[in-house]
Amino acid sequence: REKPGEESRTETLRWAAKFFHQTLQGSEGKTASVYLGTERGLSEKTIRSFGLGYAPESWEHLFNAAKRSAIPQEHLVDLGLITHNKQRNSWYDTFRNRVIFPVFSVGGQVVGFGGRTLGNDPHAPKYLNSPESALFEKSKLLYGLHAAKNEIRRMESAILVEGYMDVLALHQAGITNAVASCGTSLTRYQAKILQRYTRRVLFIYDADPAGLKSMITGIETLLAEGITPFVVMLPSGDDPDSFIRREGREKFLQFTEAEKLQFLEFQIRFFSESGDFEQPEEKSRSIRSMVHTIALIPDRIQQELYLQELAEKLSISHSALLELLGKQLEAEG
Ligand code: UTP
Ligand code: MN
Ligand code: MN
Ligand code: MN
Ligand code: MN
Repeated sequence: REKPGEESRTETLRWAAKFFHQTLQGSEGKTASVYLGTERGLSEKTIRSFGLGYAPESWEHLFNAAKRSAIPQEHLVDLGLITHNKQRNSWYDTFRNRVIFPVFSVGGQVVGFGGRTLGNDPHAPKYLNSPESALFEKSKLLYGLHAAKNEIRRMESAILVEGYMDVLALHQAGITNAVASCGTSLTRYQAKILQRYTRRVLFIYDADPAGLKSMITGIETLLAEGITPFVVMLPSGDDPDSFIRREGREKFLQFTEAEKLQFLEFQIRFFSESGDFEQPEEKSRSIRSMVHTIALIPDRIQQELYLQELAEKLSISHSALLELLGKQLEAEG
């Protein structure tokens, strides 16, 4: 499956992951390891099993170490581990003063890195990722899948979260069927990957406007792949990591069990809380959007059942919804 040259790239990725991990364990990694342990609550075991690392505050730490290890510079360039400075015509480390999260393929090979800043430069992005390449296509990866896949199969369901830290906090709490889309929008490709492991996905994105909106569109992406989505809305401002860190595992399990909404219930709640049911015009638009969602479901019987549910919950005639569904299906061919 590997293209020529990819095998040695993979070796370089493994080397870099080891370099970052060892730096975290050493004296230079002191601040970062205190941050991960004290501020983020990660255990030694979690740090080790997910191979977390640290890229020091230096312009050529990795670059120099690579030279010592006879790593071809071309690899570092291709993998985006070093970046070119045009003015000085020199190369510098891409990841600096960042906690490093190696990203693994389903098979457990390192394919790239995410790095969270430890500095307080408001212009630096909070998370920086390896550039896109044949080995690292962010839209086709789910963070944590290599560690979650067996549990997803066993539980017959996956928990889908936004970020690296959310996956780590859940796995550390023994909730090991969690994976992250790494960013807010779930891609078609990621949904296809999930569909190989399960037909049920529980969305627990951040309880902020971006997270909620992404769940609305993510629902459609999952439904189109034959997955039934459920949603948990955390208390406003939380993400799974902050919730579990503050409330603990038991509260998290209780909360998700009690607050779990089937996707249609979630959409109704979302629209009604946005005030989109108050005027007939807005209500009509919201209903059209929900029928549009239902139209994406490949199974006709399920479509029918969800349509009935929508009719009952919103006191709309079933026939009106059916007509709308028919039109939408026609329009989409
Ligand atoms: P969030 O923006 O929710 O991270 O991004 P956060 O919860 O504030 O981060 P912490 O808890 O302070 O560390 C969720 C995920 O989106 C991706 C990363 O994968 C991140 O884990 N992301 C976010 C990026 O790739 N780049 C960014 O600049 C921000
Ligand atoms: Mn977020
Ligand atoms: Mn749509
Ligand atoms: Mn978050
Ligand atoms: Mn967070």
